[in-house]
Amino acid sequence: MLLLLLLVASCAAVPQNLSGKMFTFPQETDTAHVSLTTSSQNFNAVTVCFRFFTDLKRDHALFSLSVPSHDNGFLFYNMAKLDSFEMSVRNTIAKFEGLDLKLNQWQSVCGAWDAVSGLVQMWVDGKPSSRKFTSSGSDISGPMIIVFGQDQDAYGGGFDAKQSFVGMMSDLHMWDHKLSPYEIWKYAKGFGYAPGNVLNWNSLEFQIQGRVLIENA
Ligand SMILES: *[C@@H]1O[C@H](CO)[C@@H](O)[C@H](O)[C@H]1NC(C)=O
Repeated sequence: MLLLLLLVASCAAVPQNLSGKMFTFPQETDTAHVSLTTSSQNFNAVTVCFRFFTDLKRDHALFSLSVPSHDNGFLFYNMAKLDSFEMSVRNTIAKFEGLDLKLNQWQSVCGAWDAVSGLVQMWVDGKPSSRKFTSSGSDISGPMIIVFGQDQDAYGGGFDAKQSFVGMMSDLHMWDHKLSPYEIWKYAKGFGYAPGNVLNWNSLEFQIQGRVLIENA
C-alpha cells in the first residue's frame, strides 16, 4: 500500500487528499525532498502553515520557495539554537528569538508577509512572534519552485545535506494573503480553518524525490 502510494506520488502530480497523513524524511541527504506544485506566479502577500516533528540540533530548512530572481523567495529556516528561527523574503532574512520550539514534539509553525508593510511575522503553536521588516514594495514573482525538506541555495537546487530536514511534516497550507490572527489560532488548534488557496494539504499536487514516505500521521 505504501509502495503504491509512493509510485502514484512520484509519477503523477494529480492532487491527493493527504488528510490524516504525513511525510516522513528519515535520512540526512542532499537529495530527498518533496516538490510542491502551484501555477501561481505572483504574491503581494503570503501565509504558509505546517506542522513538523524533529530532533535535529543543527540548522535546517523546512519550506523553501524559490523564484529565478531570489533563491530565498520565501524560506522557513530553523536554527541549531533551539529557540531561534529565520524567515527570508526576497533574500532578506528576519531572525526570530526566544520562540517556544521543542524537539521530539509536533508543533505548528505559520509565517506571513505582505509587500505593502514589508513585515514578516511567525507563529509557533499559534503564539505570535515579534514583527520584523524584510522587503516591501515588490512582490514575490516568477515561476515558483517550492521544496520541503531541502534548502534551495540556487533556483531549484544547491541542496546541502547539512541543511536538510529529517523528521515528519504534515498539514501544509499556503494562502495568497495574510491570515487574520483568529484564522492562525484556528489552524494551530486544528479547528475548522479555511484550507490554503495556493497549497492545500487536502488536495495537494506534489512530487517526491528520494526517500520520503507517506504514512499515517
Ligand atoms: C479529505 O479527506 C478527509 C478525510 O477523509 C475528508 O474529511 C475531506 O472532506 C477530504 N477533502 C477533500 C478536499 O477531498
